[in-house]
Formats: sequence, C-alpha cells, structure tokens
Amino acid sequence: MRNFFASLLALLTLSVACAQAAPDSAASAAAAVAPPAGFVAPALPKADDSNAQRAKSQPGNNAPFWRAVHGSGDHAGTSNLPGAEKGVLIQSMIQYPGSKLTTAGEAWRQVRNQWIIPYGGSLLLITVLALALFYFSKGTLGGHVPYTGRLIERFTYFERAAHWSNAAAFSLLAISGLVMAFGKFFLLPVLGATLFGWLTYALKTAHNLAGPLFAVSLLVVFMTFVRDNLPTVHDLKWMLKGGGLFGEHEVPSARFNAGEKVVFWGGVFLLGFTVVGSGLVLDQLLPGLAYLRGDMQIAHMIHAVAAMLMMVLFLGHIYMGTVGMKDALKAMQTGMVDEGWAKEHHELWFDDIRAGNIPAQRSTPVDQSRPANPAAQH
Ligand code: HEM
Repeated sequence: MRNFFASLLALLTLSVACAQAAPDSAASAAAAVAPPAGFVAPALPKADDSNAQRAKSQPGNNAPFWRAVHGSGDHAGTSNLPGAEKGVLIQSMIQYPGSKLTTAGEAWRQVRNQWIIPYGGSLLLITVLALALFYFSKGTLGGHVPYTGRLIERFTYFERAAHWSNAAAFSLLAISGLVMAFGKFFLLPVLGATLFGWLTYALKTAHNLAGPLFAVSLLVVFMTFVRDNLPTVHDLKWMLKGGGLFGEHEVPSARFNAGEKVVFWGGVFLLGFTVVGSGLVLDQLLPGLAYLRGDMQIAHMIHAVAAMLMMVLFLGHIYMGTVGMKDALKAMQTGMVDEGWAKEHHELWFDDIRAGNIPAQRSTPVDQSRPANPAAQH
C-alpha cells in the first residue's frame, strides 16, 4: 500500500513539473518561427485577385487563372491561338435541347451522346427491322396485271443520270456518316485503333468532298422531278387508303403516288436541303459566316438529326426501289416500264398516256412493233 502512495506522489510531482515547463517550449517554438523583424505578411488572397496578385498572396494557387479560363466564354481572355475565338478557351453556359445548363461544348456533347447517337441509331435499326418484317410478310409487291410487251418511257436518260449520281453521293455520305457516328461501337473493336483511325479519316475526307457534289445533284433532282410531285386531289384518296398497300388493288395514282411525293417533299426538299445547308456550314463553304464553335455545334446537331431522318425515309425509298416492288429498279435502270406495270402502279398516268395527254416516249422513239423481251413476260 505504501509503495502505491509513493509512486502516486512521484507521478503527481512529475506532471506538475512538466506543466510548468510547457508554456516555455510553446513560447520558444513560436519564437523559433516568428517572422523576421520588418517582415510584412502578404495580403490574404481575395476572391477577385488576378493571377499575378494570387501568385504573390498564395504562390502556386492558380484559381484566378482557371476561373478566367472557365469564364472566358463571357469575358474573353487573351491567347495566341489562331481563329475568331482565340480568347475563349471554354464557351459560356448554354442549354441546347436535351442538354443540361452547362458550358456549350459540354451541352453539345450531351445532345450528341445522349440523344442523337442512341435514338438516331435505334430509329435506323427499327426501320431496317420493320422493312424486313414487311418484306417477309408481304413479299415483293406487283405482278398482278399482265404485261403487254409494249413499253412506256418512265425516266429519260437525263432523269436517270441525275438520280443515280445523287443516289451514289447520298450512299457515300450515308455510309461515311454512319461510320463517323457509330463506327467506334462496331468497327473499332474489330479493326483496332490504327486501322479504324485511318478508315474514319479517309471516310471523313470523302464525306467532306461528296457533300458539295450531293448539294448540286440534289438541286438537279429537285428541279427535274418537282413538276410531277405537285400534290393533287388523288393523293388525298391514296393517303386515306394507304395506297391500297394492305388491300387487293393499288389506289390509282399519277406518275408518282402520294407516298413517293412524301419522300420527295419530306426527304429530297425539307430534309435534303437542311442536311445540305448545315453540311455546307460544317464544311465552312458558305460566305459571310464567322464559323464560331457555337455555330458549328448548332450546325452539327441540325445536320445529324436531319441526316438520320433522311436515312430512315430513304431506307424506305431504297426498299421500294429494289426488292419492295417488282421491276421498279428496272424502270430507273433502263427508263422503260411495260404498260401492265404502269397500269397496275400508276393507273392515272397510264390513262393519260393512252389518252395521248402525255407522250409514251419523251426522248428517242421506241420501236412499238418489236415485242418486249419474252423473258420479261411474267
Ligand atoms: C441507292 C439508292 C436508291 C435507289 C436504289 C433508288 C431507286 C429508285 C427507283 C427504282 C425509282 C423509280 C420509282 C418509280 O418508278 O416511281 C426512284 C425514283 C426516285 N428517286 Fe431514288 N433511289 C435511290 C436513292 C435516291 C436518293 C438518295 C434520292 C434523293 C435524295 C432519290 C430520289 C428519287 C426521286 C426524286 C425519284 C423520282 C420519284 C419521285 O419523284 O417521287 N433516290 N428511285
């Protein structure tokens, strides 16, 4: 017991001695780091410091610099970058349709990656599946009216040349556009980065070159076919009956039926010229524009959406123009159709030809006495 009290006493004495010593060591530590005499403490960093001031008040803290970079969309800084927006390193805040309110570059990225790519891609896939389902349920349409062997000129040489140069440019633009948009999902894993990089670079270049060609050929196609695509009362009847697609007989139509006219005004005119106009902005070929990043972002979003919708519409056109309708492709290849074909698919046009209102031949005369190729007879 005695020992316990003795050690307790000793402990108590020791801690008293230390406490008395502590203020001395803190004082000596403070004395040790005290600023030298005459030292003036730098001003504390202020929120509106310039970077130069901050470098003095808090060396290494570049917050003012990055704040200026982030705000350069509203208050352009100075840089030796080339181009119109050299002082704008990050664009100002904006909200594009479908994006959050954020800097313009990020807003554009959100629209592209969260809307255009997933929904545009799904729409294209659904269209292909729907056309395949239609083909396997209905098969190739037509062939119900016997052929007479007498031919009618449906497309002149010029109309076919305009059509196929336009179709070729469109196909190149569509394929290169699809690779630029979706290639990283299905081609990059197969080809690897180097080959994929070269392929996309080559296709992007082809896309930029084919664009102006498509612009010209589209205008020629529009001017060439506009007269026979003007709406008439018959189109309304055709629309209301769905063209007779799900009935026994096709609804009578003029040279082009209402479905083709929708493709013409919706696809060739509206979407076609929107894709071309926004494409020429992206190619920086229109005079008088500053081509700022915001302009390019808006042009790209319009271009991509219009191109996706145009591809959906022309997938339908290409389907009808290849396997969807018997001998339709031959019409655009040779320019000629049999009277039976004209009667079945464009009865009012056929009636006009028989009545002599429209010539059966608009370019070089056809030899009526020579029967059509027997093989063509179904
Ligand atoms: C490889 C793709 C294409 C194929 C296989 C194709 C096939 C056809 C066929 C067979 C016809 C004749 C239809 C009929 O006799 O009524 C036709 C007509 C037509 N095609 Fe195409 N086409 C293609 C691409 C395009 C493109 C890209 C455009 C325009 C952007 C286009 C615009 C037209 C127009 C304006 C007509 C005349 C019919 C009308 O004015 O409605 N075609 N096409």
